[in-house]
Amino acid sequence: MPIHHDNSPPPQAQTGAPSILVRELNYRYPDGFHALRGLSVAIAPGERVGLVGPNGAGKSTFMLHLNGLLSGEGEIRIAGLPLSKEKLPEVRALVGMVFQNPDDQLFSPTVFDDVAFGPLHMGYGEEEVRQRVAEALAAVGMADFAERMPYHLSVGQKKRVSLATVLAMGPELLVLDEPSAGLDPRGRRQLIELLDGMALTMLVSTHDMRLVDELFPRILVMDAGQIVYDGETSAVLNDDAFLRAHGLEKP
Ligand SMILES: Nc1ncnc2c1ncn2[C@@H]1O[C@H](COP(=O)(O)OP(=O)(O)OP(=O)(O)O)[C@@H](O)[C@H]1O
Ligand SMILES: [Mg+2]
Repeated sequence: MPIHHDNSPPPQAQTGAPSILVRELNYRYPDGFHALRGLSVAIAPGERVGLVGPNGAGKSTFMLHLNGLLSGEGEIRIAGLPLSKEKLPEVRALVGMVFQNPDDQLFSPTVFDDVAFGPLHMGYGEEEVRQRVAEALAAVGMADFAERMPYHLSVGQKKRVSLATVLAMGPELLVLDEPSAGLDPRGRRQLIELLDGMALTMLVSTHDMRLVDELFPRILVMDAGQIVYDGETSAVLNDDAFLRAHGLEKP
């Protein structure tokens, strides 16, 4: 790995590198619980990958590693960049992460402020920020909610606004933790269409096997801190015994 000098090319220029590369990732929570046990995976630019598995499998724990919010043993690279202290701001600008719990994502007095937060901190001017916020809120069907208090929104509305906070930053990679949880059927359909229309690398955890079937040709199945399957979605969805063994169901 060459050392990056100040005049090194921007991350986008590192063509050929996987969007996400993870090697032998192990993580123990401070109480000693061994939550990730030797995870390895490579996801190419533009790939759309579903992440499934029973409650407690380690999906959220894994995702929180991908922008350095948790840090275990092993190697992680995002678009070729290591998650070192120096590279962390660059990595965070590339990775749009939506947390499982929207209350971890929303903290401003208005929806507008929450969605504007990212673009403002990226240094965009007022007009550009306004436009980004408007587009992101429209994309998630929340255009009329800009002046509302995030705290008082319904769960599904909060999930939509959380996604908008990430879209407004124009990430290269989406890491979404259960984005359809709490959405009504129309919201779920809008989400599927929205994701389907975006040419970004996506890693999306969900218990919604229909969503997986529609959007993700490749699936990672996690159980007890390990990836127990990595491959074609269609193969897994036709393997009843495997699905049952890992607490999953056919769509
Ligand atoms: N702060 C923590 N301290 C100790 N153990 C934790 C902590 N957070 C999570 N765990 C444990 O780590 C394991 C993985 O949890 P994680 O939240 O990653 O699962 P998940 O696959 O996302 O589940 P779900 O489908 O319910 O969202 C679980 O056994 C959980 O109890
Ligand atoms: Mg989770």
